[in-house]
Amino acid sequence: MSRLVNVARVAAVLALPLVGVVFGPAAHAADPAAEVAAGLAVYQANCTACHGATGNGRGPAAIALKPKPVDFTVATWWTGKTDDQLVASIKSGRPGTSMTPFTALSDADLANVVAYLRTLAAAPTP
Ligand code: HEC
Repeated sequence: MSRLVNVARVAAVLALPLVGVVFGPAAHAADPAAEVAAGLAVYQANCTACHGATGNGRGPAAIALKPKPVDFTVATWWTGKTDDQLVASIKSGRPGTSMTPFTALSDADLANVVAYLRTLAAAPTP
């Protein structure tokens, strides 16, 4: 009997992180790790062609672009950048550049992708 109780307890503990994964992105800001994971998905679907798979600004399309896409792995680029500023750049684009407005992204998508971008600052540039 006590063995069964233990099994149930272990199953409950194992299920907890799964609840976080399933509901995390929708209940945005509740869990930073879920936010970053959701942001990675947004990034991979929309941004790698220019900003690159590792965020270093050297995606396959970047060679033809002027100005070049931002290299998010350069820590100094981040100095003074606020989330609001980055969300505005993604939502409204950067006039006169190939950084076009991403109007289809929800507010949660925008917050999540910015949370993901912030994790790249510490990543080494290959
Ligand atoms: C077609 C190429 C292209 C794609 C796709 C693209 N970007 Fe950009 N992005 C650029 C370029 C070029 C710049 C540099 C603009 C400049 O110099 O002002 C830039 C700049 C930025 C900046 C810096 C803005 C600032 O305030 O300085 C952010 C943040 C950014 N992109 C995020 C994203 C995100 C997130 C996505 C995907 C949702 C994305 N970009 C997709 C080309 C692209």
